[in-house]
Amino acid sequence: MNAITIVGTGYVGLGYAAGFTKKGLKVFCIDLDETIVETINKGKSPIDEPGMDDAIRSAVDKDLLTASTDIMEGWADTKSIFICVGTYCDEEGNIDLSQVRSAAHSIGKALREDREYRAVCVKSTVIPGTTDGVVAPILEQESGKKVGADFGLCMSPEFLREGNALEDILNPDKIVVGGVDQKSINTIEKNYRDFEITRGHPIIETDLRTAELIKYAQNSFLAMKVSFINEMANLAEEFGVNVGDVAKALGVDKRISSMYLRAGPGFGGSCFPKDVLALLSAAKKVDYNAQMLKATLNVNDRQKRHGLELVESISSLEGKTVALLGLAFKPNTGDTRESVSITVINDLLRKETKKISVYDPSEFAREEIYELIGDKITYATSAKQCLAKADIALILTGWQEFKELEPSFFVEHMAENPILVDTRRIYDETEFQKAGVTIKVLGQSNRKDFVPS
Ligand code: UDX
Repeated sequence: MNAITIVGTGYVGLGYAAGFTKKGLKVFCIDLDETIVETINKGKSPIDEPGMDDAIRSAVDKDLLTASTDIMEGWADTKSIFICVGTYCDEEGNIDLSQVRSAAHSIGKALREDREYRAVCVKSTVIPGTTDGVVAPILEQESGKKVGADFGLCMSPEFLREGNALEDILNPDKIVVGGVDQKSINTIEKNYRDFEITRGHPIIETDLRTAELIKYAQNSFLAMKVSFINEMANLAEEFGVNVGDVAKALGVDKRISSMYLRAGPGFGGSCFPKDVLALLSAAKKVDYNAQMLKATLNVNDRQKRHGLELVESISSLEGKTVALLGLAFKPNTGDTRESVSITVINDLLRKETKKISVYDPSEFAREEIYELIGDKITYATSAKQCLAKADIALILTGWQEFKELEPSFFVEHMAENPILVDTRRIYDETEFQKAGVTIKVLGQSNRKDFVPS
């Protein structure tokens, strides 16, 4: 049997487990966390991701998915072992390879008694040089075998977006497989054969270090695009322009593309901030001053404070009841890592507000923020409850539920003379003004005071 072992069951590991099993492949998920293992074996998803519950349930029902804390589970049948563990990074951008190392140690031990050829593939995001410089030596030392000769080694980055994980996995724009040799690449590639690469791009075969850098280059580029449009948004506000019109014009140019040109309150999530910082820090280690990466992060740090700047350009926060709609770093996920909501809540806590009330449609997101911030703020379970008698409301995540709210809803539930700041640009300013809401949409204004001298 051509089974697959996946070590680590976060968004990436579980996403690929769901993707591979949807294509009929048998997957063994390995995680140290017993609760996660039990949850998966019960046919439930331990993460809040659209389609994941159904995919996991159906895979378990068909006996295509088994989770275990023991790497040896299913080992005899497995041909490919994917390392999908977290690579957290500290404030200086040094990535923590402890989970990658520990996965490599257990895989290496499992390879020791092996007669079969198997290929190990790093999918976790790692700095160029990690797979050949850190993972390979551990595998060789633990197994007493040689990379290339006795077992294969690849690095195949993922490009999935949270909230879209399954779709991105099954219909990727590209698949990158870096390997120590062609045999390793062929072994790993086979697993992807049923994925639909809709735009017809071939699988990109490369060496390990190139595959590692492709991942960082991709995320840094997209993050840079977001910071770029956010900078344009801030300028648009000063020049009396709507950044949406600018983005639309830029986006129709094939050389630019319209994606990742939505101005907003700054990017968050588990990848963009961490990956740009990690590459910046790796650049420093090779004595290179990576100015584009630095600017991408600096613009983002400033942007995360722009929502409150917009509020304060209309009203003081002192003594006010403030409602925050949106805690997750983007819609359709419960993930709040590096979310702008955390910066905004912490900044608000330093102001003399009367009350801070928050709401996110995802219960996961509410729980994560509760664990981080605790009882210093109020957690609402609906938009209505969150907005009740609030003087000021801020939209921080562009959930569909918020897009559907009418101006009258804000007028009805908020205090008199409501103020609304829309950092996700989901509302029509004119409609809200007509309804009596003082609204500021990030990235646009009617100011005409600037005239070049
Ligand atoms: C990202 C990459 O897209 C993915 O390829 C990689 O594997 C992991 O990191 P993800 O973090 O899930 O995925 O989210 P994404 O949808 O890319 O958004 C990242 C952040 O940028 C969010 O905070 C989002 O709100 C923000 N963003 C994105 C914008 O502000 N404007 C945009 O136009 C696009």
